[in-house]
Amino acid sequence: MTDRAAWQRLDADDPLRAFRERFELPDGVIYLDGNSLGALPRATPGRVAALLHEAWGRDLITSWNKHGWIDLPTRVGDKIARLIGAAPSEVAVADSTSVNLFKLLSGALDLAPGRRVVLSDRGNFPTDLYIAQGLVGLRGGGLALEVVDEARVAAAIDATTAVVMLTHVNYRSGRMHDLAALTAAAHRAGALMLWDLSHSAGAMPIDLNAAGADFAVGCGYKYLNGGPGAPAFLFIAARHQAGIRPPLSGWMGHVAPFAFDHDYRPAAGIARNLCGTPAILSLVALESGVDLMLEADLAAVRAKSRALGERFWARVTERCPGRFALASPADPAARGSQLCLSHPEGYAIVQALIARGVIPDFRAPDILRFGFAPLYTRYVDIWDAVEQLADIMATRAWDAPQFHTRAKVT
Ligand SMILES: Cc1ncc(COP(=O)(O)O)c(C=O)c1O
Repeated sequence: MTDRAAWQRLDADDPLRAFRERFELPDGVIYLDGNSLGALPRATPGRVAALLHEAWGRDLITSWNKHGWIDLPTRVGDKIARLIGAAPSEVAVADSTSVNLFKLLSGALDLAPGRRVVLSDRGNFPTDLYIAQGLVGLRGGGLALEVVDEARVAAAIDATTAVVMLTHVNYRSGRMHDLAALTAAAHRAGALMLWDLSHSAGAMPIDLNAAGADFAVGCGYKYLNGGPGAPAFLFIAARHQAGIRPPLSGWMGHVAPFAFDHDYRPAAGIARNLCGTPAILSLVALESGVDLMLEADLAAVRAKSRALGERFWARVTERCPGRFALASPADPAARGSQLCLSHPEGYAIVQALIARGVIPDFRAPDILRFGFAPLYTRYVDIWDAVEQLADIMATRAWDAPQFHTRAKVT
């Protein structure tokens, strides 16, 4: 038996193996970017087609009641709640992650009068930092965003900290913060905790309520497989909901949108954090992805994701010795569901891989990012991807001129 055959055996024994068939995956492609855009669940086109023809096409505007469109943001939110350790009515689906960060950060600052610092880490995803910069500028009053190195976050929380805002799994390195420990550290100092779960929801078990987290947001289009531009989710712990004053006081968050009152009065509970008309086509696609994820055992998902990452790095060191630095933590327990390599020619190497049907992505300045989506990434995919990588490095295939031209999206 060859080594590759042994890896095929791992796939045959994989408790999650049946899920791969539930996704539309093109032949000849090894998709290692589900951490950026999840693959298409096979059920989604049918569900979207039914929405188009049987709801929008046939029942027109009566669908808001007849097909329950009006409740979709909270219905899908209740389902996502089960993936992140939240209670029903603590999660809603709306807008983008960026917009939800703005809403929740503003709500959190209202709950922390007299404190002036939003604390984050330097490596946080840019939109998180940009949104915080915009919001503190808008609110004035001496508020400031402070960023420190990842390892220094806990030590930097003090009596001036209003909100600690962190991404659970770092988009570039895959490094995972200790969600429970940092939430506890924030609370010990009297600060609130806001998590961005974009790179962890659907990739591992998360228990927001066990940790006592205050707020969270996350993307619908990554491990939740909701489709390009899928709406995002927001979580507000039940104890804070009545005290939140939404900064985007749109009619969908009004207590009675169809009363058409002149004055804004927030809805009770999580619904006040909705703003405008929900994107129904996208919500239905997201619901399909979430339904599929709910069938999976997240502990098994995490175990496989760790194994894929460990095996990937072991093969890279065997087949491409000395060529790449590991840009993720060496300890698999400290990583999310991705593994990152650094190389000065990272962009060209990623393009050469894509030309051969292996799809990771590139993050400036020098990171090759390989994401593992345990519902559809196989062990044999890791083997084959590293074989291609080794060949591209040995033959310098990456050095062809077409691989050096930067596209808009990397
Ligand atoms: C951690 C994190 N937050 C937010 C976003 C993007 O949010 P939005 O949906 O607003 O584009 C990303 C996108 O990759 C991300 O990785």
